[in-house]
Amino acid sequence: MNVMSTVSIPIPPAHAVTHVPPVQEERLEPGEREALISRIKPLLSEQDAVLVAHYYTSGDLQRLAEETGGCVSDSLEMARFGHAAQARTLIVAGVRFMGETAKILNPEKRVLMPDLGAECSLDLSCPADAFGEFCDAHPDRTVVVYANTSAEVKARADWVVTSSIAVKVARHLKEQGRKLIWAPDRYLGDYVRRVTGADMLLWQGACVVHERFKAEGIRALRREHPEAAVLVHPESPASVIDLADVVGSTTQLIRAVGELPNPSFIVATDNGIFHKMHAVAPAKTLLEAPTGGHGATCVSCAHCPWMAMNGLKKLLHVLETGDNEVHVDPQVGARAARSINRMLAFAGQAGITVAGMSGD
Ligand code: 13P
Ligand code: SF4
Repeated sequence: MNVMSTVSIPIPPAHAVTHVPPVQEERLEPGEREALISRIKPLLSEQDAVLVAHYYTSGDLQRLAEETGGCVSDSLEMARFGHAAQARTLIVAGVRFMGETAKILNPEKRVLMPDLGAECSLDLSCPADAFGEFCDAHPDRTVVVYANTSAEVKARADWVVTSSIAVKVARHLKEQGRKLIWAPDRYLGDYVRRVTGADMLLWQGACVVHERFKAEGIRALRREHPEAAVLVHPESPASVIDLADVVGSTTQLIRAVGELPNPSFIVATDNGIFHKMHAVAPAKTLLEAPTGGHGATCVSCAHCPWMAMNGLKKLLHVLETGDNEVHVDPQVGARAARSINRMLAFAGQAGITVAGMSGD
């Protein structure tokens, strides 16, 4: 391995994510779900709005998005769908970077989110000013950032990538002889570097959900279920990725459940994804990869606290009030759009699609 590629940048305390909220899923009384949905549906059509939801949001939101002509997908497809949609309002059920990406690609549209406080630990770990200084210190490198970043960080980047396209983009840039800065996920960066051999300087962020998966626990679960395939999102540590039968984005992992012959799967990603996996392959058994070590009270708490902030009550509230509109500075947005559009054009040329996902 190239010496430069092993350099890691210590993360100053200011970049550490110190506050992770508890997971507080929406709780609904009997009958409340149906009542909410019957008020939300007409408001969506009256306001020419579509719901664009991530696979980690609740089953209620995912079902509603699909029933009303919206979309449920990974972050690459959320960006593409929002861009292609005719609707005047996009309601993004996910985390803030997803809402910002929608606004950057569609500055003329109104973009609302059920909760603007839905952050992402990767985004929080990478403040734009510190990241800018880091880039300034390495002017010879092409700057590649994960979609899980602020508009300002995207504006500084040459390329944006999502998990479904990260390896392909890094390989493409390596073939052009480029050296890279990669931010903010150190685990995804390490994985991409190992797969492609690209020369990459890694920002030291991490996803608070995926970094908790434990190789030891997965090995033990696999001994109990030798027939199970192990599916891992690449935001997980290398020791976990090394146990995987499939490493991929949320869409790629869902597809694997449908396509692989295994009757069961150990899944190392947010458990919100089980809703779609069950829909795609109802007869298959899905097992959460363990996240707790010995003595931990939380055996598997594989759920993003920020994704959990989305719910039907908040969705109704933003439709009724217009609250929680996403705003991005137009100049920042225009710069960020260049690096996002570079990814979307590359995805189109590489033929990366999610078409064919079925099961609902
Ligand atoms: P995907 O692009 O694979 O959906 O990942 C987004 C994300 O935030 C995973 O934690
Ligand atoms: Fe961010 Fe991790 Fe939540 Fe995905 S699961 S939104 S990477 S904190």
